[in-house]
Amino acid sequence: MGSLVIPLSLNNISVSMTNSIADKLRHIIQTRRSIKPRRFNGKSIEDKLVWQLLDNGNWAPNHGKAQPWRFFVFTAGGLDRLAQFQADLYRQLTPGERFSADKYERMKTNVLKSSHVIVLGMTRQLEAIPEVEDIEAVACSVQNMMLTATAYGISSFWGSGGVTYTDELKAFLGLGPDDRCLGYLYLGYSDDAPPSEQRSPVGERVIWIDGSSAEDSAAR
Ligand SMILES: Cc1cc2nc3c(=O)[nH]c(=O)nc-3n(C[C@H](O)[C@H](O)[C@H](O)COP(=O)(O)O)c2cc1C
Repeated sequence: MGSLVIPLSLNNISVSMTNSIADKLRHIIQTRRSIKPRRFNGKSIEDKLVWQLLDNGNWAPNHGKAQPWRFFVFTAGGLDRLAQFQADLYRQLTPGERFSADKYERMKTNVLKSSHVIVLGMTRQLEAIPEVEDIEAVACSVQNMMLTATAYGISSFWGSGGVTYTDELKAFLGLGPDDRCLGYLYLGYSDDAPPSEQRSPVGERVIWIDGSSAEDSAAR
């Protein structure tokens, strides 16, 4: 896939060039689809592409220059460690009657079918910044990474199941008590066509207030 070249300054470029960049961006945003790890084909992603994802994740908006994201990248033998850790933790935390052998296996296979898993950490550094804003910043970084993955033809899936929100996972990662894990970004390649997705029109979720009618003055 060719790389998207974005000029350093947009001031002097023609409208058509601007449109072509905007069209590419819209295409990437709208064709990004979550692909579950069970649909990955086992092919490895080059580390340098994963670094490209991470670097773009690092450019997400964030309040107070906190850059609160911490990306724990598991690949190769690291995947075995993560898979075994979380399967064992699932067994430890799940009472006998609720324990599912299938789920125990899935806790391993979702990781092992991936080329890389980026475990998404959030660290709290600035008390003045509300925690929700650090969470939002990390979410933006994940979207940057998923869009970059789409541009490279890499499949991605953001999952928050299993042991994501446990203190044991935080300890495994070396996160502090006020920090959080916000999920796993599973990465791989897939031979399957991306699932189709419908979105209801954005107009159903927009309240446009320009002061031109009595209706729009109501605070909703
Ligand atoms: C923070 C977050 C956590 C998610 N966790 C899960 C999950 O654990 N399991 C799941 O099936 N989908 C989960 N999803 C939803 C999928 O990742 C995906 O976004 C959704 O299926 C919509 O499909 P699309 O990404 O192709 O538009 C999560 C989404 C977000 C934003």
